[in-house]
Amino acid sequence: MNNKKRWIDGYFVLAVLLVVCDQVTKVLAKNTLEGQDAFQVIPGIFEFSYLENTGAAFGSFSGNILALSAVTVLLLAAVIWKYRDIPREPHYRVMRIIFAMVFAGGVGNLIDRIFRGYVIDFLYFVPINFPKFNLADTFITVGAAAFIVAALTLYRGNGLDFLWHVKQGQKDQQNHGQEEQKMTVMEAIKARKSIRKYESKPIEPEKLEQVLEAGRLAPSARNEQTWKFLVTENAEQRAAVTAACGQAFVGEAPVILTVCTANQRMMRCGQPACTIDASIAMSFMILEAAEQGLGTCWIGSFDEPQVRAALRIPEEYQIVALTPMGYPAEDPAPRPRKEMQEILVKDSFAE
Ligand SMILES: Cc1cc2nc3c(=O)[nH]c(=O)nc-3n(C[C@H](O)[C@H](O)[C@H](O)COP(=O)(O)O)c2cc1C
Repeated sequence: MNNKKRWIDGYFVLAVLLVVCDQVTKVLAKNTLEGQDAFQVIPGIFEFSYLENTGAAFGSFSGNILALSAVTVLLLAAVIWKYRDIPREPHYRVMRIIFAMVFAGGVGNLIDRIFRGYVIDFLYFVPINFPKFNLADTFITVGAAAFIVAALTLYRGNGLDFLWHVKQGQKDQQNHGQEEQKMTVMEAIKARKSIRKYESKPIEPEKLEQVLEAGRLAPSARNEQTWKFLVTENAEQRAAVTAACGQAFVGEAPVILTVCTANQRMMRCGQPACTIDASIAMSFMILEAAEQGLGTCWIGSFDEPQVRAALRIPEEYQIVALTPMGYPAEDPAPRPRKEMQEILVKDSFAE
């Protein structure tokens, strides 16, 4: 799996297409409208009317071409920089489109300023005497408006954390030289994120021990503790488990931790004790890993017989979950969660 932070993707192609549309319409406007009377699209309401604008969007800051170009370049750099931090999940497609629109708008007008010394505006709403504008202005304005709406709806809560979250390296620098501070459980819960890119740096034995200790102390049904925690560091076996997962990043981590249980018992509630016991132990361990600064990613998608063969797991054990574990080589933004009111049921479903 390729988790490199990229900014050249399908949305970049969209941005390029928008820039092309902007430039083509400007050339058309110059060729057909310059020196001519306005072309009435909807008489008295909307017309095409040529203007060479040396200011910013909608004619503001007239005459400051150099300063405006510099500001635009800085803004475009910020857009590219933050674009790379947008989580690569379908939920964030809208945000990518918004970034592509704002980027295209900025580039469209920057091209004009650099190559023409002015921006071509040709769209004009007559009744409100609104300044003339162009497609690039529209992309920026619609993008900015969509951003505000999306921030208040789709990405409310912590959905925009990717814009300002502190990078792991910076966090390490901030902590450098300070007394090691213990995380609260809630801090560990918030720090844990699925990590899909790892450094090859080995895990210190005492850290690994702490992680396993958290699993050992986990509760289990009837306190049966029928689990086994497999720590796989051997490169060959890690490669075999990685192949069984079909997820290349699993093999990047120096350790793969697998939890299996030998308990076949169904509890009175109808749930298998083994899956639940193992899941609790794994949860405790990935939280402790977060406290230790280690990354994990719960893996449920694996070929069970292949993992069993790779790790020689006896038939009586069920393999419940595994995770790569190691120092993160990425710091993804927190993934979105449903709002509490969507998941909380007070008293009973009937209420
Ligand atoms: C039971 C379970 C199975 C999962 N299986 C996989 C998996 O096979 N591959 C993967 O990349 N992530 C897997 N995940 C990780 C989820 O995709 C991830 O937890 C979820 O998107 C929320 O992101 P977060 O962990 O960063 O908060 C699994 C998570 C759980 C709890």
